[in-house]
Amino acid sequence: MSVPHPVITIDGPAASGKSSIARLVAQRLGFTYVNTGNMYRAMTWAVLQAGVDPQDAEAVRAAAAGIGIESPVVEGKTQVCVSGRTLTDAELNSDPVNRAVSFIARVAEVRERLVADQRALGSIGPLVMEGRDIGSVVFPDSPHKIYVDASAEVRASRRSAQGLADQVAERDRLDKERKTSPLVIPEGAVVIDNSHITLDQAVEQVIAALKL
Ligand code: DC
Repeated sequence: MSVPHPVITIDGPAASGKSSIARLVAQRLGFTYVNTGNMYRAMTWAVLQAGVDPQDAEAVRAAAAGIGIESPVVEGKTQVCVSGRTLTDAELNSDPVNRAVSFIARVAEVRERLVADQRALGSIGPLVMEGRDIGSVVFPDSPHKIYVDASAEVRASRRSAQGLADQVAERDRLDKERKTSPLVIPEGAVVIDNSHITLDQAVEQVIAALKL
């Protein structure tokens, strides 16, 4: 799959710091920032709005087929819109969405659609795209792959410092054990563990690792 612009892929587990790092790397380079977790979160929000049980894969499949997700670029990053309505950070990061998102993200048809949308974004210009399978599945040919990690203790304490009751360990287990596109360290990725370094240091390490 050839892509007309560079795509920096940043994967890693929940609360690893990858969103903050990816956003700053994109700003530094003037690339568009794409948070693919928000696309899965938007789909989850819409499925919950429809009253569907997130663990009922058949019902999720049927509901998801009728849900339109768009990703317009606003001020250097993609937003997520469901049927023309832009979702807020509070909606995307709500407790019900945190609890359900890994169930929605393991439905193969949901992934196929969102992966196609993510690949299509590759034509708009240079990107920093973060998620779980960006270097392994969405853009496996990208020469710019990063995997951001942090210890389980650091990740749990970062989430609670944000005031979010997120079941980080349980989400990781589901994301790593699922059949379709599980979270893995992509082949050729540079691993950056930011448990004991600052955000700025992590951004520097990413920029230094890239051969743009
Ligand atoms: O990055 P995040 O924690 O906001 O992602 C929310 C969930 O979405 C995550 O638990 C698994 C799923 N996800 C995924 O399966 N593939 C991606 N590329 C991004 C997120």
